Amino acid sequence: MDEFSYLEPMQEADLSWVLALENRSYDFPWSKKGFEKSLEQGLNYVFYSPQGKKMGYCCILTVLDEAHILNVCVATECRGKGIAKAALKKVLAKLQASIYRVVLLEVRHSNQPAITLYQSLGFHQDGIRKNYYRVNGWDEVRQELVEGREDAVLMSFVCL
Ligand SMILES: CC(C)(COP(=O)(O)OP(=O)(O)OC[C@H]1O[C@@H](n2cnc3c(N)ncnc32)[C@H](O)[C@@H]1OP(=O)(O)O)[C@@H](O)C(=O)NCCC(=O)NCCS
Repeated sequence: MDEFSYLEPMQEADLSWVLALENRSYDFPWSKKGFEKSLEQGLNYVFYSPQGKKMGYCCILTVLDEAHILNVCVATECRGKGIAKAALKKVLAKLQASIYRVVLLEVRHSNQPAITLYQSLGFHQDGIRKNYYRVNGWDEVRQELVEGREDAVLMSFVCL
């Protein structure tokens, strides 16, 4: 059954699975180099089922007492089953038990599933960063794919 059980630090050996899911999940995915940099600098976790099946991952950059969640992704076939919520609860508890005072993130304005997920975990909206993300759109007049920009919603979670 697809149920979250535990976190493990992401390893170099996880990257082929991580990259395949990343490429399926985003229009503008991180490159292998992006993940390698994150493995060098940040806290990175893979989410596992009780049977040891990989179900998702998150990447966090830490700066002094701030933790920035840069990427959260759950395997397409495992979505909508509470996996991101349970895994991020565990991640937040780890950060809270450590030196971190605040957890920050940015999310696309159109990504309602992620915004609702973060709100349900206790994140609050702090503001909007205009035109922060690249976005692909369909131009009806020219009948072609065009690149535009989309706002970011800035959110924070205060560690108590
Ligand atoms: C966003 C994402 C990580 C959510 O993972 P998930 O495991 O499906 O989320 P959960 O099942 O734990 O959902 C937790 C809460 O999020 C919200 N949520 C999740 N999917 C939703 C959807 N499709 N529509 C609306 N709300 C949704 C709900 O509030 C849900 O709680 P509820 O089921 O009690 O109502 C997943 O959809 C994903 O990997 N998306 C692609 C990558 C991405 O956009 N990442 C976020 C970048 S900031």
